[in-house]
Amino acid sequence: MTCSILVGGAWGDEGKGKCITYLCDNDKPDIIARAGVGPNAGHSVEFNGEKYGLRLTPSGFVHTGAKLMIGAGVLVNPDVLFSEFENLSKYDVKGRMSIDSRCAIINEDHMSRDKSSEHLAKKIGSTGSGCGPANSDRVMRTIDLAKDIPELEDYIADVSLECNKTLDEGGDVFIEGSQGFALSLYYGTYPYVTSKDTTASTFAADVGVGPTKVDEVYAVFKSYISRVGEGPFPTEMTQEEAESKGLEEYGVVTGRRRRIGYFDMELAKESCRINGATQIALTCVDRLFDCARVQNYSELSQETRDFISQIEQETGVPVTIISTGPDLKDTIDLRKELL
Ligand code: GTP
Ligand code: IMP
Ligand code: MG
Repeated sequence: MTCSILVGGAWGDEGKGKCITYLCDNDKPDIIARAGVGPNAGHSVEFNGEKYGLRLTPSGFVHTGAKLMIGAGVLVNPDVLFSEFENLSKYDVKGRMSIDSRCAIINEDHMSRDKSSEHLAKKIGSTGSGCGPANSDRVMRTIDLAKDIPELEDYIADVSLECNKTLDEGGDVFIEGSQGFALSLYYGTYPYVTSKDTTASTFAADVGVGPTKVDEVYAVFKSYISRVGEGPFPTEMTQEEAESKGLEEYGVVTGRRRRIGYFDMELAKESCRINGATQIALTCVDRLFDCARVQNYSELSQETRDFISQIEQETGVPVTIISTGPDLKDTIDLRKELL
């Protein structure tokens, strides 16, 4: 029985999509449950030469033996979900998906309020996906829940009950967080944050699993940092510098150019502490150092190893997964050696 939670270590887009796909393909959990805010997320998955951009479907969908679930805390936009069912029909996502009856529903009004709000769209730089207004209506207790939506009838379940039952019977549950630590409504760079806490404790609550059941918390960090939207970014570099290093990036949901910066050790320490991280997955190491597609730790340069050791020493958390490219094979998995 293992219950794992995966969280973003910084401002999102750390490469969670790739890490989740690798971990689920490798460890084969019985349930993969999506936690986090809602369809403001954009996870990139590359599998068998094909690329997918996901907003609600758990990124672990490639492990076809797993049940896929969306926890009660997550906001659901049925249109986004149904279009992902279409795009992922090859993997029978539709047939494996359950949605908690208590998920709150995003409607057109939430999206137009998000896009037309001077404060959200311009000042904060929201994704325009309706999440902020929907969470606000949820707090006001005026929002519809999944159980009230006839089109969702076939997918309704008690996700908390399913997850706890599987754990009690000795199965494995993988909880996918979205966004990132520094976007947390509580611990992030308020007010330039998302509309909810985005740390591991909240992700467990989103799915309805209590803290005593959680075994592992994976914090995902990119070897540099990116941020979309407004707000403080202490280690930010200029766009010219990012370009000269080949570190340009564009958002999956909004297509906006991401701001780029250097790895921030102080942020990493705080993020590991508040998330209670037990392991670190470090991505895009190949984009910072010359190690594309390396699959053995022994082939990493001394400079790369020193960078990894420094992160371990400062955070006190072992770096167990090192990602050197988008493909699942481009992964150094040290879990057997280190744990
Ligand atoms: P999350 O929002 O954290 O899920 O991140 P993401 O999956 O949305 O990341 P992003 O949209 O920034 O995608 C980054 C791209 O880099 C995707 O095409 C990934 O497949 C790819 N990628 C992921 N890990 C690595 C890596 O270690 N090296 C390289 N070169 N590319 C990677
Ligand atoms: P909202 O969550 O759409 O309200 O956006 C609030 C802030 O969080 C903006 O700066 C967004 O760019 C950022 N944000 C929300 N979700 C993500 C994500 O999954 N990745 C990166 N940034 C995000
Ligand atoms: Mg993303």
